[in-house]
Amino acid sequence: RKVAVLMGGWSPEREVSLVSGKACAEGLREGGHQVIEYDVKRDLRALIEFLRPAGGGGPDVVFNALHGKYGEDGCIQGVLEVLAVPYTHSGVLPSAIAMDKPMTRHVFTSLGMRVAEGRVIERQSLAWGDPMPRPYVVKPIDQGSSIGVHIVREGDNLAAVELAEAKFGDRVLVEKFVPGRELTVAVMGDKPIAVTELRPRTRFYDYEAKYTDGVTEHLVPAPIPAEVYELAKDWALMAHEALGCSGLTRSDFRWDDSKPDTSGLVVLEINTQPGMTPLSLAPEQAKWAGISWSQLMTWMVDNARH
Ligand code: DAL
Ligand code: MG
Repeated sequence: RKVAVLMGGWSPEREVSLVSGKACAEGLREGGHQVIEYDVKRDLRALIEFLRPAGGGGPDVVFNALHGKYGEDGCIQGVLEVLAVPYTHSGVLPSAIAMDKPMTRHVFTSLGMRVAEGRVIERQSLAWGDPMPRPYVVKPIDQGSSIGVHIVREGDNLAAVELAEAKFGDRVLVEKFVPGRELTVAVMGDKPIAVTELRPRTRFYDYEAKYTDGVTEHLVPAPIPAEVYELAKDWALMAHEALGCSGLTRSDFRWDDSKPDTSGLVVLEINTQPGMTPLSLAPEQAKWAGISWSQLMTWMVDNARH
């Protein structure tokens, strides 16, 4: 089949998407598909002409390898729906909800899942002082790859954090920092694959730790108690299903291992366009489960939304 891989875009995750896109294109070719790589620019006419050329003969299916604003938040999904081009990953509504962290928190809490204590505040109010006792985390409402995420600890300069958030908008999410461990679960169709623990050698699992080889250790299956492992898998599946996601997603967690039983597990977010770079976690879990890169790509286009 003729598969168009959409990549790039113009969000702060452009570079990540280009790496994801190239890797996915390679896997698709290996799987015997005819592949066209397309770097999405802010030119809707060109995109439409590419997908639905006037003379006919456009791609049969879109492999969406975009991340971040416009590519992951339901916007491009809306264009593809209108053009009636089948595409991989989730549809408009789950994409829009998952990209918005406060909205995601509402859904998660309504399902009985634990989230970190937190709320949305006006970014500028950070200039007047701490919104909650330190340490806490300040996050843009709608970015991925930990872009703009700051952990505010004793001694940190709050004014600098406020300034750094300015380019992401007027509202920010503040959440109590959950100490302990970083976990993630990929869901493929209706099955959670595994739990991976991330052990960054830097301060936290930030942009650098995500995309620099050797900076983060990935442990799959995560060396955690069975009940925590199972609950993280259950919650990842609940999140995927409740939002109505399709194809592949990845849900991220913190686990405070000083708390008894499973009470220290909190869910951070669900990613509807999980990273597909060679260092990314969802394809790594698939590989662990015996699914090769090209098999995963083929599964994704076979399960494209129509
Ligand atoms: N936003 C990045 C790509 C991820 O979640 O993997
Ligand atoms: Mg994310």
